[in-house]
Amino acid sequence: MTTTWSPESWRSKPVLQVPDYPQAQELAAVEDQLKRFPPLVFAGEARRLKAELARVAHGEGFLLQGGDCAESFAEHHPDMIRDLFRVFLQMAVVLTYGAAQPVVKVGRIAGQFAKPRSAATESQGDTELPSYRGDIINAIEFEEGSRIPDPQRMLKAYRQSAATLNLLRAFAQGGYANLEHVHQWTLGFLKDSPQSHRYEALAERIGECLAFMRACGINADTTPQLHSTEFYTSHEALLLGYEQAMTRVDSTTGEWYDTAGHFLWIGDRTRQPDGAHVEFMRGIRNPIGLKCGPSMDADGLIRLIDILNPGDEAGRLTLICRFGADKIADHLPALVRRVKQEGRTVVWSCDPMHGNTIKAASGFKTRPFDRILNEARSFFQIHQSEGTHAGGVHIEMTGTNVTECTGGAVAITEADLSDRYHTHCDPRLNGDQALELAFLIAEELSRGRKAPEIPQAVSGL
Ligand code: PEP
Ligand code: CO
Repeated sequence: MTTTWSPESWRSKPVLQVPDYPQAQELAAVEDQLKRFPPLVFAGEARRLKAELARVAHGEGFLLQGGDCAESFAEHHPDMIRDLFRVFLQMAVVLTYGAAQPVVKVGRIAGQFAKPRSAATESQGDTELPSYRGDIINAIEFEEGSRIPDPQRMLKAYRQSAATLNLLRAFAQGGYANLEHVHQWTLGFLKDSPQSHRYEALAERIGECLAFMRACGINADTTPQLHSTEFYTSHEALLLGYEQAMTRVDSTTGEWYDTAGHFLWIGDRTRQPDGAHVEFMRGIRNPIGLKCGPSMDADGLIRLIDILNPGDEAGRLTLICRFGADKIADHLPALVRRVKQEGRTVVWSCDPMHGNTIKAASGFKTRPFDRILNEARSFFQIHQSEGTHAGGVHIEMTGTNVTECTGGAVAITEADLSDRYHTHCDPRLNGDQALELAFLIAEELSRGRKAPEIPQAVSGL
């Protein structure tokens, strides 16, 4: 694939998962308008993230990526953003301690609006309508008018992303991310968790570290890193017309960056090597992700790496593995071996969500916490036995107390799912489940680095 790339070169390739906009002129007008809007992120920020991911690729860091499956217009509220950011920071602190490495924080937020669908239509009773494709395209209500793709939604998604990002930047830099506060929130979580005995030891060690640092004069007043943080945004680059409109030349390097988010990824359904999504993504200079599901084989993966990262630039490519707890052992080792054998530099990240979705008897899509944890554990074990770096996790989560995934310490049952099932797409871990998962992953990480072990609390068993 050596043909010239341009932000629109994807248009001459076969494209999957595209909405069928009835008003071509209106679509073109909206895309033109978007082209004149300010970028949401700067190229320099995307480069900084790439440099941080390069460290992860070299085994010197850990990537935490997470957020909504699909952001929605209806749930655009400052409390939602704050709650997600808060639990994200708590997870990051726990993982930093477990890994003894810097944690790179990337939200699925401020642009995660477009959804690939397994079926083009959805039926209820005798009525068949086009599928919901995310708020940037159509509306979730099961009504004919709602499901017609509306280009104006792109403008709304852009503005919502800008507002969300503005608040995230304020939180990250304005003092909300103070490490001491984050730790206090975690202690609050432990007070209420039925499994707190399991996590107390780790939390205590973090508290001791903070006290030690304080005694040495390292505190939020003396050390800016303790009261601010870097937080990056990401989404699936699915709606290519929108992504193209946001793709600009960086004046300092002359290279193209997709300024709709810092990090973009290619979904498992749209990673055909000759397809439009791969074509678009190969030309932007942002750090990018590639979802790898059970249909990815080693030859196919190397072919995609050749296209997406021909110069083997560290930090450019993150492989986001999403096989399912029962399939990961059959698929991941062969990919890891081949990538290692070919000397390719990638970040290996584990998405333990998308291969573990089941339908509850009540009809709700759910994900059992144990399956999520099992896939994550297998991921760490496989990397340990292959001698490679398990570089990160990719989670669908929210900061609020939804009831979408079963299990966890508070043991949400299938019967509870209807209580607070709010997702616009896939089931998310709620705040407590997400933090619990971070504690359990921290155990794996500390085991991986051998010493010092996190002391296991005496549970009386
Ligand atoms: C997603 O991340 O929401 C998603 C649809 O993932 P995948 O492409 O891996 O199915
Ligand atoms: Co999803």
